[in-house]
Parts: sequence; C-alpha cells; structure tokens
Amino acid sequence: MTSVLITGASEIITNDPSHGGPIGRVPDAAMVVDDGVVQWVGTTGSAPATDEAVDVEGRSVIPGFVDSHSHIVFAGDRSEEFAARMTGEPYTAGGIRTTVAATRAASDEELTAQVARLSAEMTRQGTTTLEIKSGYGLNVADEKRALAVARQFTDETTFLGAHIVAPEFGDDPAAYVDLVTGEMLQACASHARWIDVFCERGAFDADQARAVLRAGKAAGLEPRVHANQLGHGPGVTVACEEGAAAADHCTYLTDDDIDAMAQSGVVATLLPGVEFSTRSPYPDARRLLAAGVTVALASDCNPGSCYTSSMPLCVALAVREMGMSPAQALWSATAGGAAALRRTDVAALKAGARADFVVLEAPSYIHLAYRPGVPLVHGTWRAGKRVH
Ligand code: NIG
Ligand code: FE
Repeated sequence: MTSVLITGASEIITNDPSHGGPIGRVPDAAMVVDDGVVQWVGTTGSAPATDEAVDVEGRSVIPGFVDSHSHIVFAGDRSEEFAARMTGEPYTAGGIRTTVAATRAASDEELTAQVARLSAEMTRQGTTTLEIKSGYGLNVADEKRALAVARQFTDETTFLGAHIVAPEFGDDPAAYVDLVTGEMLQACASHARWIDVFCERGAFDADQARAVLRAGKAAGLEPRVHANQLGHGPGVTVACEEGAAAADHCTYLTDDDIDAMAQSGVVATLLPGVEFSTRSPYPDARRLLAAGVTVALASDCNPGSCYTSSMPLCVALAVREMGMSPAQALWSATAGGAAALRRTDVAALKAGARADFVVLEAPSYIHLAYRPGVPLVHGTWRAGKRVH
C-alpha cells in the first residue's frame, strides 16, 4: 500500500476533541492516509515520511459531509409547485402523490440514472456518506425497486413505505399500514438498514407510526422518524419511545420534545433547506444545543419540500437562520450526521477513521457560511481516493 501525505493545509478540522473544542482544529496541518484510512494528523513540520505527497497549497481540509437524510429515488419535476408556494400557496404532504405517479411510471434505468446524477452532484459538494430513502413507490414492487436502486449507491438505505397512505388506499389507511408492516416490509427489509415513518397530520398518526417502527424493528431494521415538520405533534415522542437513531425535521418543538431527545439520546436532524424552500419558520438550534441534544444537519434532498443537494448551503443556512456558530454547523453536518446514522468510522480525521475529507477552496472552514452559494469544494476524497 502507498502512504500519502496531505500537506500544506492551512488547517485540518479533525472533529477530534483532543485537538481542542468539538471540531479539533489543527492549524498549519498535514495528514497521512494509508489504505483508505487516516494514520496520522499533526502540524506540517512534524509529518512522518510517506511514499507520496499531495500539497493542498494553503487550503482548509474538513471531514466529508455526512448527509443523513435524502429522498433521491424519484422521477418527475415539481418546480411549478415550488413557484406556486413562493407566491403564497402552503406546502402540504399531498404533493408527494405527484412524485409517486411519476416514479412508478419511470423505468429502472431512469431511476438509476437519476440517483447517479444526484449522488454525483452531492459528491461534488463534499458529501462522502449519504443516506437514501424509498417512499415514492408506495406499493410492494416500487418500494422494493427504489431500495434496490438506492443500494447501488449506499449501504445507508431507508424503507419509507409509510411516507403517505398510498393513493389506492385513500379511504382505508389501516389496510395500507397492514401492507407496509406486512408484505411490503418483507419485500424491502433485505434492501434496507433503516425503517422510517412520516408521523404528521396528513400522513401517519402516533399509533400507526409506532406500528410501522415496531414491525421494522422486528424485521431487523433500525428506526428513524420524520417528526414535527408541519406542526407540533407526536413524532418526536414516538421517536424517543421507540429508540430511534434520529428525529428528523424538528421544525416545531416544545420544551418537552427537547427534554425527551436530550434524555433518550435521539439525534435531532435539522433540515434548514426545507424551511428555506417552504418558507417555514426555522427551528432554533441553540435551544437544542443548550439542552444537550446532539444536532445533525442534512439536506433532505427531494423534489417537493427541498430540492437542494448542497450540504454547504445547509451549513450556511444553519449559521444564518438557526443560530449555530460556523463550528457547530460544520460539526453537525459531519459528526452529527454520523451520529444520526450510528456510524463511528466516518466524520473524524484521526488515526483509524476512514479517510473521507474535503479540500476547500478557502483558507478556513468558516468560509462555508461566510461565502454562501459559492462552490468552495476543491476536492472530495472518499476512503483515501480523490472522487472529485
Ligand atoms: O422530508 N416530509 C415528508 N417527506 C419529504 C417531502 C416529500 C415531498 O414533498 O415529496 C420531506 O420533506
Ligand atoms: Fe425527508
């Protein structure tokens, strides 16, 4: 194996508290990567000898983004719905049906090409670990197909048959929950790591959400929940009671919701692109952080509520609109996402971690928020290989 020295970095953000603070910033830094794994991080002057060296010429190096929430297996376009929203229409879960029809009508090749396109777009913006959900099939064959497509791109796949009640079951939600927890789950479980449910008015109530998560757990899947996106509701409570890894959205939170997450260790995944794209109020991340809740940031990339694939945009929005410091936002978009996916092998640049990192066209990670909308990713490296 060839060892490579990444040298000449203005800083390396390690997420290793032994270098100080939660993000572990090492100034004037270098890193040794061997066999896809970080071997050493320190100052340039103290670097050990390696087979090769790559000089990043004064750029900042950060851990790769961990985007723990996306819905990129879909077909069709809902830009008209977005335009209508920007002139006053509200966002509702009903738009999902438009995408379900288009997704069912698409060929396997079209869906695969779409996921390839969007995941490549994410890589170019620094994402090195990606979660992908089903949820636009809503029948046995199309949910299974969505997960099989997603699995070609990531191991972090999530069965979201309980996204909304399928159109065919409009007047019989109980029968749809039976399908999701029965035949659909059986067909999907081997293609998924996670089970998810949209617990919200207009989607699934608390009892239905519990039934879905419990069936998923019995089939060997780990739970996560779409919670408290459109209003106050039971989603966070259900996530905490069912041992979910994360409660995602958290747009509307009570003090009790925040206490419950702090007590149970459920990660709060904030999706600021959704508030941006639906003109919703942003949650206050400082309330969560002050209570000791672990906060993740993710894109929620999907054709309805938020069609951005950009984790740098999410960092900038979290800083500007959710009260996070640039350091907190970077931590949440990397280590926070890893916590939301229960991953300990990624999102830190320290000996033994997977060498997933981003070289920024900037002297400091702060530029991610300071220069919103500017393409600052100079290079993306996954498992020690440059992939962009
Ligand atoms: O996470 N909330 C539910 N699902 C997606 C949006 C789906 C859609 O509008 O197509 C979300 O926001
Ligand atoms: Fe979502």
